Amino acid sequence: MAYQDTVRRLTVRDIARAKGGEPIVSLTAYTAPVARVVDEACDFILVGDSLGMVLYGMDSTVGVTVDMMIAHGRAVVRATRRACIVVDLPFGSYEQSPAQAFSTAARIVAETGCAAVKLEGGEEMAETIDFLTARGVPVLGHIGLMPQSVNASGFQVQGRTEESARRILADARAVEAAGAFGIVIENTVELLSRMLTQELAVPTIGIGASPACDGQILVTEDIVGLAGAFSPRFVKRYAELGDGLAGAVQDYAADVRARRFPGPEHTANLSVPKAKSEA
Ligand code: KIV
Repeated sequence: MAYQDTVRRLTVRDIARAKGGEPIVSLTAYTAPVARVVDEACDFILVGDSLGMVLYGMDSTVGVTVDMMIAHGRAVVRATRRACIVVDLPFGSYEQSPAQAFSTAARIVAETGCAAVKLEGGEEMAETIDFLTARGVPVLGHIGLMPQSVNASGFQVQGRTEESARRILADARAVEAAGAFGIVIENTVELLSRMLTQELAVPTIGIGASPACDGQILVTEDIVGLAGAFSPRFVKRYAELGDGLAGAVQDYAADVRARRFPGPEHTANLSVPKAKSEA
């Protein structure tokens, strides 16, 4: 979608309508400075619970809290004006019952100003997605590899066996029927991603799910070299900002130790203010 000329914020309906057209572009953002940059290029921004690993150095996303999502969601909404903003429901904040999911989602939407929430799960979450969407909370689904269930399922590519592919297909159908406006498909084989994209009426947003999807999403820090040494196979690096940051920090430390910084231009000196009659 080329929306460069508009300042209107894109809505979930714009995203849903983009199915089958120019690929939908999405990245994550967790902070205002990154969100400002990402907003220029993306149709929707995800405040993903991947922030637990990327920003907080956690081993997985399971320790992320609703308060963390709200603080970061609010910063991202404040810093952007064009992209549609979606915030993840973190692990443990929605799985117990549709009512629990609604009170978490309502708090996140009200306190951040985001347009929609994303939650992980297939058939088992259909009732919850239906409950939320019927009550005015747009939902982006997330199937295939689900990082919140990584303790149970691991990080491997999904849909390689017939059984796994059938399960994901059933998940996709259930999530769409429940009212999701789009579905993130993570780490699935291309044949399955293509089948899902052809069959579903809502857009598929792939992460490690091939070019067959209606759109693509990646973690911003992964594509700019700020997320550490490990990089999943499906990530393409567009910059090495980690190296740039390390260089800048080394230069700063050397300047301070050599008393080259701060210089006169960074230093305030005592000057006597002129009397009004002299001015
Ligand atoms: O939390 C996240 O960042 C995600 C991905 C889809 C990027 O869920």
